[in-house]
Amino acid sequence: MPVVLITGCSSGFGEALALAFATHGYRVVATLRKPEAASPKLKALADEKPDDFLFASLDVASAASRKAAVDFAVTRFGRLDVLINNAGVGARGAFEDTPESQWRTMFDTNLFGPLELSRLVLPIMRAQGGGRIINVTSVAAVLKTPLMAAYCASKHALDTATAALDIEARGFGVRAICLMPGPFKTALPQKSLDREASAPYAAIAAHFNATFDAMEAKAPEDLTPVIDAALAAATDADPALRYPAGVDAIPILPPILQALAPLQPIGLHLTGQG
Ligand SMILES: NC(=O)c1ccc[n+]([C@@H]2O[C@H](COP(=O)([O-])OP(=O)(O)OC[C@H]3O[C@@H](n4cnc5c(N)ncnc54)[C@H](OP(=O)(O)O)[C@@H]3O)[C@@H](O)[C@H]2O)c1
Repeated sequence: MPVVLITGCSSGFGEALALAFATHGYRVVATLRKPEAASPKLKALADEKPDDFLFASLDVASAASRKAAVDFAVTRFGRLDVLINNAGVGARGAFEDTPESQWRTMFDTNLFGPLELSRLVLPIMRAQGGGRIINVTSVAAVLKTPLMAAYCASKHALDTATAALDIEARGFGVRAICLMPGPFKTALPQKSLDREASAPYAAIAAHFNATFDAMEAKAPEDLTPVIDAALAAATDADPALRYPAGVDAIPILPPILQALAPLQPIGLHLTGQG
């Protein structure tokens, strides 16, 4: 049975992917910062399949934790076929209001954690003669939206690094792939590291927060498109670089462009979308 290690399984996509891969014939290492906080569904699965479904503690921002989780997976299952770098954190806030420490937290979680986990699994996958690294990016990797500079930048960087890695590693049978979801209802907004806008940015923050809130309110709860995209990324014979998921359900671009448009006449010079 192929083995998958998934990060960020406490909620949202990670929890759904752990359940889905387990029911599609994979041995699963479901990793969380706090395994004791796993959902009842995942705990039931671990009880039902104690040889094939394991929890491991993993804070993707900690080097020691990353190494321990990968070692655990290989020790218990003897191989690692798929790494899904799913853990991530959002943040809304004006650029000027966002201190370096927050940029570092965002990049440690959304970029450096996935990159370093990839570096840990690459020798294992090369030795096996194959493997898949699936990095959960976002449409935010290609859209650059105001009030989300750190999130968009971290996902854009992950998208770029994934593309380069895929070219380097495919000669070893290892493929690196972006899973690029649009908005879905998960715990992301509740866990987001949002910052209150300072007075100069209050108006633009209110404007965009209304746009983002409306998009989140309309976001689908059914995570099937994300699951289907991840399974395809893991199994397609010649995978694409990017697997969008749910982007059709909610067109992202029109509301963001509509939110940008009224800012032009009030003297804000907006460039650089795309
Ligand atoms: N939902 C969307 O609309 C959407 C759209 C595009 C992309 N995404 C991306 O999809 C991925 C999953 O997000 P989600 O929507 O499922 O949100 P979620 O429910 O908030 O899940 C995020 C997961 O990441 C974990 N996490 C955060 N920091 C971590 C760290 N340092 N180490 C280990 N785990 C950590 C969280 O664990 P804790 O419980 O410990 O915080 C949680 O399990 C993220 O990369 C997100 O950027 C989401």
